[in-house]
Amino acid sequence: MSKAKVVVTRKWPEQVEQRLTELFDVKLNIDDHKMSVAELHEALQSADALCPTVSDSINAEVLNVDSKKARVIASYGVGFNHIDLEAAKANDLVVTNTPEVLTDCTADLAMTLLLMVARRAGEGERHIRHKEWTGWRPTHMIGTSVTGKTLGLIGMGRIARAMAHKAHHGFGMKIIFTDPYPPPAEIVDDLQAESRDSMDEVLAEADFVSLHCPGGKETYHLINDERLAKMKSSAYLVNSARGDVVDPQALITALKNGTIAGAGLDVFEGEPDVQEGLLDLENAVLLPHLGSASMETRVAMGMRVIDNLQAFFAGREPGDRVA
Ligand code: DGY
Repeated sequence: MSKAKVVVTRKWPEQVEQRLTELFDVKLNIDDHKMSVAELHEALQSADALCPTVSDSINAEVLNVDSKKARVIASYGVGFNHIDLEAAKANDLVVTNTPEVLTDCTADLAMTLLLMVARRAGEGERHIRHKEWTGWRPTHMIGTSVTGKTLGLIGMGRIARAMAHKAHHGFGMKIIFTDPYPPPAEIVDDLQAESRDSMDEVLAEADFVSLHCPGGKETYHLINDERLAKMKSSAYLVNSARGDVVDPQALITALKNGTIAGAGLDVFEGEPDVQEGLLDLENAVLLPHLGSASMETRVAMGMRVIDNLQAFFAGREPGDRVA
């Protein structure tokens, strides 16, 4: 039987590319360039499966191309707001993602942002590299402790729960959260977490607010001027979810005016472009979307894509079908 043809839009870890090569007639992206709309069209017209990543916009313009051969979009990543699911359905395309395997890794990164911004680690790094350090002194570069502080989670899905676990059991933080679909009682009990009825309550009470909601229309600029003003002036915002959840201009103003104390960001609206105003702010920690960037996790994500492809081509329901 001939192998299914699969197009991968970016460079994946070697181990995964090797496995893909064994199983499929795969077209790899050796030089890791960002594929154009024309290349994506060509992939959909020539291959049985397209495997994009969260940085490819798989919108209606891409999906509505004529003479498609592809029947499945097996995306590498848990988020799927880069794919127009309605257009995919309308084009009879099955869509899958890679949940679970990146949960802890992304929660670790959210904790990294929290700790970095609280303890001014980005500033400290720059201070040394710029040869500005004149030695230890009691009032130098003082941050804030995290132990005993309150972490407020907006959204309480897998990554938020993993972060809460690390924050509560590892750093002695109190956990509050808001989510229309709260986790099972045993998870809430284990975290000694408290649910709040509204996001505004979480914003007002938390010392650290961490965002864990999907991107897209429903959460677009959820964190805006008004919501930032509800936070304590001593509080910090952490975003490891999606850039467009935060209005960047509102955040820049809040960080400049002291409406909030700082922010740790791994994602940006319009990334990889980062709003100029953020670049000069000492109280912002900025990372280039590293949430799932450990080798173990990136390999596991790739293998999860392969599981989904194998199930699909064997006529089974892929485990991670989202459309
Ligand atoms: C995802 O998977 O959605 C992340 O943003 C990248 O790992």
